[in-house]
Amino acid sequence: MEKAEIGLIGLAVMGSNLALNIAEKGNKIAVFNRTPEKTDEFYESAGDLKKQIVPCKTIEEFVEAIRPPRPIIIMIKAGEPVDQQMELLRPYLSKGDIMIDAGNANFRDTIARFDRLKDTDLTFIGMGVSGGEEGARHGPSIMVGGTEDSWKRVEKVLTSIAAKYKGDPCVAWLGNDGAGHFVKTIHNGIEYADMQMIAEIYGIFRDGLGKSSTDISKIFGQWNKGRLNSYLIEISEKVLAATDPISKGSMVDMILDKAGQKGTGKWSAIEAQNMGIPATAIEAAVAARSISSMKGEREAAEKIFGKPEYKFPIAYGPDLDKDLELALFAAKIGAYAQGFAVMAEASREFKWSLPMPTIAKIWRDGCIIRSQFLDEITSAFTKAPDAANLIVTPAFSEMVKESIPALRRVVTAALQAGLPVPALTSALTYFDAYRQGRGTANLIQAQRDFFGAHGFDRLDGKDFHHGPWGSGAATF
Ligand code: 6PG
Repeated sequence: MEKAEIGLIGLAVMGSNLALNIAEKGNKIAVFNRTPEKTDEFYESAGDLKKQIVPCKTIEEFVEAIRPPRPIIIMIKAGEPVDQQMELLRPYLSKGDIMIDAGNANFRDTIARFDRLKDTDLTFIGMGVSGGEEGARHGPSIMVGGTEDSWKRVEKVLTSIAAKYKGDPCVAWLGNDGAGHFVKTIHNGIEYADMQMIAEIYGIFRDGLGKSSTDISKIFGQWNKGRLNSYLIEISEKVLAATDPISKGSMVDMILDKAGQKGTGKWSAIEAQNMGIPATAIEAAVAARSISSMKGEREAAEKIFGKPEYKFPIAYGPDLDKDLELALFAAKIGAYAQGFAVMAEASREFKWSLPMPTIAKIWRDGCIIRSQFLDEITSAFTKAPDAANLIVTPAFSEMVKESIPALRRVVTAALQAGLPVPALTSALTYFDAYRQGRGTANLIQAQRDFFGAHGFDRLDGKDFHHGPWGSGAATF
């Protein structure tokens, strides 16, 4: 029997959709699930694709069915279960076989798994897959980390299943060990910021301007035709237009305002902090999810302090809808600039040589943050590969100049109205601090020197590193 080109373990929602996608693109695939009933169920529901699928009941049979060197996708719950699955598989594998973790793994775990296999003749790929259920089935964006040789073994299959942006496959090998999972983590950090900023604008419309979900949906529909064109705006339009089958009112109005999170957004913020790279919009988005989950405390506090007046706009000048659109665009630039800056630093620290234009390129379709905007980022980084930050590339600096005044007006009005807009505000103050040649950290340095004799550098370069407050000033 002709051997399968690839294997996949874990037939839950993401795994089974990915397996069907692989089969549909003409690749023979062997599948295995811990509970064999699930394998039967999956195989029976595969219809015409059955001929491309080899359902296996034992690990031995599964490994035997794949053409060596065997690429085996593990699509199960991230964390411990992945290590357990790898241990179960190992005794059956042989030289050159590649275990591929396609879950939302922490890239530090990926590096550790990769290293554990370093001195064996097996290898490991950490593969970020974005696009949810639909993406997995019809074309996700795929971020690969591992050795170049292992990438070559899977390149053809992965290229066949990835989303295509105007014909370009949204998959790439991004570097060694944890590179793929790191980039996926930052994708998710940006996803958090993007979603939070859209939610804040929704809050301005709902609470500051008294608009209904239907009205806001229509505005987002309009925006989706312009510079904000993106999957997240598109689905926001759709969810805001949906009717609750029970109350017959707006579906979104019936949903509890507590956001879940599985960790990738938080990891982005933590890694940004570890490297000393500001990712304030991402941090604000993670914190906003945390405060959202404190529903009881928020309700109790509202009883003490009352609701703000939410009067928006306060003496607002320009066309409000247009200004909100432009403000969201400016803030979005800030969040993406931060995400790319974190990746640039990680690339240096982990010696990955992450290709920025390629990352933007493979995010143009298939993934959750897909948008036309990412095509503009691709071309900005292609033209200015050494730019220190997205916002100083020639293309984006012009867009920033055009849109920041709107963000400033919107944030100012929202803050005056008592509307919480932490991600929009963070994007604005990131810009303000980033373009300020002379900041205020001179005072921080003086304070540090005063209480701890930490020393400072002088603007004139002279060799005096302490202030006239005397060393040991902490005893004052
Ligand atoms: C994707 C998504 C996906 C993630 C969900 C939920 O790129 O397809 O990022 O991987 O699991 O967005 O993440 P949270 O539960 O943390 O919101």
